Amino acid sequence: MKKELPIVPAIFPMPVVLIATYNEDGSIDVMNAAWCTAYDYKQIKLNLSEEHMTMKNIRRNKAFTVTMADKSHINEADYFGIVSSNKVKDKFERTHLKAHKSEKINAPILDDFPLCMECVLDEEEPVGYGVIGNIVRLSVEESCLDESGKVNPSKLEALIYDPFRHGYYVVGEKVGNAFSDGRKIK
Ligand SMILES: Cc1cc2nc3c(=O)[nH]c(=O)nc-3n(C[C@H](O)[C@H](O)[C@H](O)COP(=O)(O)O)c2cc1C
Repeated sequence: MKKELPIVPAIFPMPVVLIATYNEDGSIDVMNAAWCTAYDYKQIKLNLSEEHMTMKNIRRNKAFTVTMADKSHINEADYFGIVSSNKVKDKFERTHLKAHKSEKINAPILDDFPLCMECVLDEEEPVGYGVIGNIVRLSVEESCLDESGKVNPSKLEALIYDPFRHGYYVVGEKVGNAFSDGRKIK
């Protein structure tokens, strides 16, 4: 029998992405975000609170990068979600992670994570709690590609977030094939 619970967005898994931007003084800010999703084939949508430094940076720079946090950087990923550049000016430097400037947009690329989406703010959509990013470049470490040149998600060791108990998990085993397994019933 199902028990009724207080309402939370009961979608598991949620992603754990890191949004990287430049602060006004040129230093780097990174924040952790789980309320993020694919929006269209070349767009992602972030749900960001107004008070975050990241939001101010995106409004000013009209650009940001997004990567998926991974298992080996769990402490840094969580730190990016509990400390704000509004208060800690050297937020990024304290992690000793590395970054370089994108050649396409005014945003930093985090060197320590295998995948990066370089995004520009979609100016067609109103910027409120939701921020739409147009992905202008996607790059990934070659070590995370399979024989056919596609990303092998298992190699990313991407973190996922649980909205029930606030746990971090790692993406598990592959158990099937989309657009295919259902044919057994069709
Ligand atoms: C697991 C986790 C997920 C989070 N997801 C979001 C989110 O989707 N949107 C949001 O506005 N804040 C989210 N936060 C909170 C921000 O990451 C946090 O407030 C951060 O300090 C903002 O940094 P900034 O002010 O330097 O941009 C999340 C925090 C954690 C730990």
